[in-house]
Amino acid sequence: MMSQVRGAQLARLLGQWHALPGRRRSPDYAALAGAVRGLLADGRLPLGVRLPAERELAEALRISRTTVTAAYRELRESGHLASRRGAGSWTMLPGNHRMAGTGLWTPLDDRDMIDLGVAALAAPPELLPAARAAAEDLPCYLGGAGYHPTGIIELREAIAHAYAQRGLPTSPEQIMVTSGTQHALDLVLRLAHSPGGSVLVEAPSYPNALAALAARRARITTHGLALDEPGWDADLLLGTLRQGRPKLAYLIPDFQNPTGHLMPASLRERLVATAHAVGTDLIVDESFVDLPLDGTVVPPPTASFDRHSRVVTVGGMSKPYWGGLRIGWIRASAPQVQRLAAARVGVDMASPVLDQLVAVHLLAQAPAIVAARQAQLTAQRDALLGALAERLPDWRVTVPHGGVTLWAELDGPISSALARAAEEVGVRLAPGPRFGLDGTLERFLRLPFTLPVADLVEAVGRIAAVRYDLDRAGRPQWREPAVIA
Ligand SMILES: Cc1ncc(COP(=O)(O)O)c(C=O)c1O
Repeated sequence: MMSQVRGAQLARLLGQWHALPGRRRSPDYAALAGAVRGLLADGRLPLGVRLPAERELAEALRISRTTVTAAYRELRESGHLASRRGAGSWTMLPGNHRMAGTGLWTPLDDRDMIDLGVAALAAPPELLPAARAAAEDLPCYLGGAGYHPTGIIELREAIAHAYAQRGLPTSPEQIMVTSGTQHALDLVLRLAHSPGGSVLVEAPSYPNALAALAARRARITTHGLALDEPGWDADLLLGTLRQGRPKLAYLIPDFQNPTGHLMPASLRERLVATAHAVGTDLIVDESFVDLPLDGTVVPPPTASFDRHSRVVTVGGMSKPYWGGLRIGWIRASAPQVQRLAAARVGVDMASPVLDQLVAVHLLAQAPAIVAARQAQLTAQRDALLGALAERLPDWRVTVPHGGVTLWAELDGPISSALARAAEEVGVRLAPGPRFGLDGTLERFLRLPFTLPVADLVEAVGRIAAVRYDLDRAGRPQWREPAVIA
């Protein structure tokens, strides 16, 4: 989508702006501002695009720069333009509805924004060679129709092998390849959940999983995680299962998003036993399992304690490799995989063969790629922790020993107001309430360490500055950032 409009393009869109009705009664700058508002109102000029520099537009329209300056000022005052010194001006709507036309504000909409809303790394250098190698392999598949509802066999074998290496014997028939972990979760819910059914989740939890549950009209109950390790309170968690007997529980035991907690082996074992005893099926999200830091030893997979097909595991390539690959999977019993595949053909038929081949090539180099990711994440986490300790010493954080995020306890219930203020200085944040259900968690903020060190340090500096301004402004402002992943 368009992220910037050039002077000549805008001039073309504006057309006969100086001859609009009522024009004679208003000065040039007001007519120009009115014409831009008109373009925004009828959708011809999208929201969130950067307007041309004043001089460029003045040249394109053959008017004085002062007129453009005054028009931009009026647009700012009416809430149709946001400007940042040295960075430019973006279209918006009054009331801070800065959503793009799609309803989503994607990371690419604003390249100057330091995006701490998305907890995912840029692609590793191995990705491009893997894509080229995958293209070389493609001819083997071109003779067939290309629909593989459970995934191509090479990839299912590679994923099954990785589980076996983690101590969980798995056959390729137990694996279904999906278009990302989110897709995997949605498919599992289609099969395992009926509208109005009860689901236990952690609080805080992953917002898009909560969205998937809300879309299926789940009745959600929560287990509150502590800030300190281990996070889960075993007695409370198992007690909630026994009392509520939910149909499902969705949990992230391996470097939980957002807290980074790691569930101990003993609790995994008790959890699976209790779930079976009370009739709860477990959906275990292993998105971050490949990313232990500091030499942390990851306990056996939760599914390794399962003797009754109570545990369905979802995972994917997005966190250790690249989100843009859109490769995830489900590990379940072979009959469950067959049922999932039957449900899937009514959704998207199958995942792209080429992307699956790329995944095969990446998984073949897993140890080297993952080791480099771990080193990168460790350095970035430490830089983020250092910057926080220096600039925001009143915030409390537990050092995560894996995953890609830390969960900070702030010095007040200010998370949404802080996110709103940070966006004004070019930092997008995912405030605490996005990770809960009921508008609570205002004292918390998730901070990913997936960006380069310089960006993280810069972001913390800007956050610290607006934190100070919040006290002085004395009025919280609320706005939801859109895309969190
Ligand atoms: C816990 C969790 N589950 C699922 C996802 C979605 O991952 P994918 O990109 O594989 O759909 C994410 C991404 O942030 C996540 O953190």
